[in-house]
Amino acid sequence: MGTGKGYGKTILFGEHFVVFGFSAMASALGSYTTAHVKIVDGQSWTIDDQRPATPGYKKKKYNESMQSIKNVIEHLKIDTESQRLEITFAGDLIAASGVGASAAQCTSLARALNESFNLNLDDEKINEAAYEGEKAYHGTPSGIDNTASTYGGLIWFVKNLNGGENTIDLLLSPKKMPLVIANSGITASTIEVVNDVKRLKEANPEKFEKIFNEYKSLSENAKKALLEGDISTVGDLMNQNHKLLQKITVSGEINDKLVNIALKNGALGAKMTGTGRGGLVIALAENEEVQEKIAKAIEVEGYDAWKTMIG
Ligand code: MEV
Repeated sequence: MGTGKGYGKTILFGEHFVVFGFSAMASALGSYTTAHVKIVDGQSWTIDDQRPATPGYKKKKYNESMQSIKNVIEHLKIDTESQRLEITFAGDLIAASGVGASAAQCTSLARALNESFNLNLDDEKINEAAYEGEKAYHGTPSGIDNTASTYGGLIWFVKNLNGGENTIDLLLSPKKMPLVIANSGITASTIEVVNDVKRLKEANPEKFEKIFNEYKSLSENAKKALLEGDISTVGDLMNQNHKLLQKITVSGEINDKLVNIALKNGALGAKMTGTGRGGLVIALAENEEVQEKIAKAIEVEGYDAWKTMIG
């Protein structure tokens, strides 16, 4: 028997841009997925998925989830011919689009297999195994989700487009920042949305070059503001990032609606996070009082809202 944990994540800056080699910043969440692996007689593997989830999420992601588990098992060269693995997923992370649920599942499984078979893998190797799993969901994932899930904390991430090592830096912010995460309840397909953006970029190279340049300077300012704990600039830049995500068509109507509710209720900044076209929106609050106000306003409109601290 072996167990493992994988943290959920929220992308503060740079989803989609990160796929094209631009820097992105993400924070792990306190909530996580757990995996338990039991080795029994027989062959192959079975899954008991007890994770709490947004309605429809598990069904929509079922095939991708099965493929990701297979990828992790194969990557770690676990023998499933002469033994059977009974894998149970649970934990307090609500599986939803945008929260890094797939990465948390892959990371928890890699850690549980590591413990079950005494593989002695360090975090880098766990992260590599989780990345293989993520390929089933993203096609060509940037790797930011599994990295946040594996290492935890606040990270600065740049994908190496030449296939070499990615840049992963831990950012230490002097300020804890209250965040509200609003769940649209809509599960998006990351692979579809990422491919749409690639197609749009190919069809509109000049437009995208301009947007990419704007994002590049925004991301540099965001890193600086996070390191300085300058919460009002972080909020401002989140708003600007959301506008750029609208321009590349990944923010859906529901994301914009949740962003507007948050801003009307005092958020310093708000943006969609993750894949977009549904999924989640994050809103930054100056203090816990405003955080509570934003969360209540989102709930009154009929959406789930979770409160967390980043930094
Ligand atoms: C999904 O959480 C983040 C994306 O940028 C895809 C990726 O980084 O692989 C949309």
